[in-house]
Amino acid sequence: MPEAAQQSPQQQPNVMESIVSLCKRRGFVYPASEIYGGLNGFWDYGPLGVLLKNNIRDHWWRNMVETPPLGPDGKVIDMVGIDTAIIQNPKTWIASGHVGGFSDPMVDDRETRARYRADQLAVYALEVVAADGSVRVDNEVLFAAPGEVGKTDNVELFEPHRKRVASIQKNNAGKEVRPVAVPNALQDEALRAKVIAPGASAPGTLTAPRAFNLMFKTHVGALEDNQSVTYLRPETAQGIFVNFKNVTDTARVRVPFGIGQIGKAFRNEINPRNFTFRSREFEQMEIEFFCRASESAQWYQYWRERRYRWYLDLGMKQANLHLREHEASELAHYAAGCADVEYDFPFGRSELEGIANRTDFDLRQHSQMSGKDLRYFDDQEPNEEARRFLPHVIEPSAGADRGTLAFLCDAFSEDEVGGEPRTVLKLHPRLAPIKAAVFPLVKKDGMPEKALEIYRSLKQRFNVYYDEKAAIGRRYRRQDEAGTPFCITVDGETLSAGSVTVRERDSCQQARIGVGELASYLGERLGA
Ligand code: GAP
Repeated sequence: MPEAAQQSPQQQPNVMESIVSLCKRRGFVYPASEIYGGLNGFWDYGPLGVLLKNNIRDHWWRNMVETPPLGPDGKVIDMVGIDTAIIQNPKTWIASGHVGGFSDPMVDDRETRARYRADQLAVYALEVVAADGSVRVDNEVLFAAPGEVGKTDNVELFEPHRKRVASIQKNNAGKEVRPVAVPNALQDEALRAKVIAPGASAPGTLTAPRAFNLMFKTHVGALEDNQSVTYLRPETAQGIFVNFKNVTDTARVRVPFGIGQIGKAFRNEINPRNFTFRSREFEQMEIEFFCRASESAQWYQYWRERRYRWYLDLGMKQANLHLREHEASELAHYAAGCADVEYDFPFGRSELEGIANRTDFDLRQHSQMSGKDLRYFDDQEPNEEARRFLPHVIEPSAGADRGTLAFLCDAFSEDEVGGEPRTVLKLHPRLAPIKAAVFPLVKKDGMPEKALEIYRSLKQRFNVYYDEKAAIGRRYRRQDEAGTPFCITVDGETLSAGSVTVRERDSCQQARIGVGELASYLGERLGA
């Protein structure tokens, strides 16, 4: 059956709302502790969501740790895995720089009690453009709106702003009134006093920006004093660095090699937003790849490309995926390079994963803080002086929740089948939570019994689902929304000739397959 012409998610209005609503309705993602009103920045994965996220994580683990891609020279690269504690000795976070520097600039609005990241609050004035092109800036009052500092595209007009525009327009008939960015306004006391915050009624309610450390603090042990303070890890990476010596001493790996880890990370984000995109509890999939300094540029290129390709291999549309090299000014002081894999989310282009050349910064810091020699010893290096060295590190760091959201956005599609609108998640079969659904065409004539028999046998190998409720068309739609790639229907011919129909989700094409061939048919298409 031919499909209707489709828009990409980015072209559809309110597509994010539709995705969030589908996630709730079908059990992908719920607000955490919803019955108590939820908790901003925390999310729970439902029965379909946990399967999708597990499939993404499992695929990453298998592709990166167990069967990694071949190295640039065609040789197998050494990769091992690790699973480290969420709470580490607090010195870990002093050495890594998180205690001293892992902060965002925060401003509070004294009137509305809202809190903002200063670097995500665009401040602008209004300028009046006459017919001859001359410009007059009206900077008696300034306005703040969520957005990129220094940019005025798509700024949201709050009520005082609208009133001001209307009043200027009234006094300047025929002239254009437009916003103009006022950079660094929040840092300057005199300018800040003129700013009307989002939702505020008067200027001057924003506080000066101050650094806000994003790590969640907790106490270990019975005494809640300064001695017992520790932190929930804000990244999984440091658990890898502090175990570098343990791994080289025990796992018989030789530089170059990588250590992969998947696990929870916690950041007390000032403004969690865009559904699961910026959460306070999330999961990372990180690799620290240790190599000689002289080879780090080559390994950096290698991992940039491999990680970008990983998303494409899982069916993400290339038009929505971008690899962006950071400007030198964006780099951390110790980094020799950084690239982001970015995705065109419905709310804009944003980071999905970062690949960084972290030099020997982390191992050096931990060596100094712990007093332990973390240099690698290469017993096969003929040059004695080059035998002991601190390896450099390439770090591909991906978010499992952000990846899940990107795959959901990429797969989300609305089209028409047989003149009826349908919502479908065109997930790669490997990622699909349910691999196939088994239906009896009708609930009589021995069809349910036969369908249940097929379901029982396939369930030994695949995550299949049985459904006999509602008309067959409705059952197809339910599975389309869940992203199920195949629907198997038992009909009259199944009983007489031993074959079923298999309907493919995206094309809606149906093929007749012998019952005995179903497992191999699915196995081939699911790569299982
Ligand atoms: N060890 C390096 C590191 O943590 P990062 O860019 O801060 O680098 C890596 O984080 C990835 O973790 C991001 O690309 C993103 O996918 C994910 N991530 C970071 N903060 C997140 C948040 N608040 N919510 C969801 N995912 C987040």
